[in-house]
Amino acid sequence: MPQKIIIDTDPGQDDAVAILLALASPELEVLGITAVAGNVPLPLTSRNARVVCELAGRPDIPIFAGCDAPMTRALVTAEHVHGKTGLDGADLPEPQMPLQDAHAVDFLIETLRREPAGTVTLCPLGPLTNIGTALARAPDIAERVAGIVLMGGAYFEVGNITPAAEFNIYVDPEAASRVFAAGIPLTVMPLDVTHRVLTTEAHLKGFRAMGTRVGDTVAAWTDFFERFDKEKYGSAGAPLHDPCVIAYLLEPEIFSGRHINVEIETVSDLTRGMTVADWWGVTERAPNATFIGDADADRFFALLTDRIATL
Ligand code: BDR
Ligand code: CA
Repeated sequence: MPQKIIIDTDPGQDDAVAILLALASPELEVLGITAVAGNVPLPLTSRNARVVCELAGRPDIPIFAGCDAPMTRALVTAEHVHGKTGLDGADLPEPQMPLQDAHAVDFLIETLRREPAGTVTLCPLGPLTNIGTALARAPDIAERVAGIVLMGGAYFEVGNITPAAEFNIYVDPEAASRVFAAGIPLTVMPLDVTHRVLTTEAHLKGFRAMGTRVGDTVAAWTDFFERFDKEKYGSAGAPLHDPCVIAYLLEPEIFSGRHINVEIETVSDLTRGMTVADWWGVTERAPNATFIGDADADRFFALLTDRIATL
């Protein structure tokens, strides 16, 4: 039986690659994709999710638009990383498939109440606004979720959007705080691990050599997206942040981490959205998350390229 997942996302080139990886993987059943405001505003993230599903030949996937702004704050976006559309780098047609009528938060609540408890895993790849709002509105869903595997946060790498915080958590720290406090089994892919899975020129060549529209598009997206990290960090390529979430579901042995306490800073302006991770166990605070610290990049890229080649 495939593992049922809901992808909550703000595409974003790396979100797009994560969605493709999920759709290319028979071990996973994507019940729906919920779009949230993040890298770009909601009208674009809900458009981009449909662009990606059509690229994968999956116009049957239900896509829902969710929250257009964080729970209590103004939206912060990241066009400086992802371009004006959020998916700059490749020219793709306007999507024809419809957006579903229901709000993403209603879809999340209804699906978790309908499916047997413990069978649906949530995969947030953007700010946690949709999930935080669903938990605020329907606290009963917390015990029905099988687990959450999310991309967000940073500890040893500290921040990318501020010196202290990673983008997804920074944008909506109140939502993140709810998610981390919900008692749901939580696995976190912070920058510490995503900065270890960098696309190299050889990977881009590999995607192009597939000779498919999907392979060319993934290469073009990554090519666009990597200019930012190359300039900023002097790194060899772009970190494929969000695909780490899906890769973890498929081959968890690629990753290693610690089950620790992680708290979200919501009060200080200076460190807003910081993920305060008790990696060294210096407090008595109860562990609430498996915080991933390392990955086998070769295995990760082998998995990714094998699967993308099937689309
Ligand atoms: C995260 O922020 C976005 O820019 C990426 O899509 C990823 O989810 C990395 O900080
Ligand atoms: Ca994202």
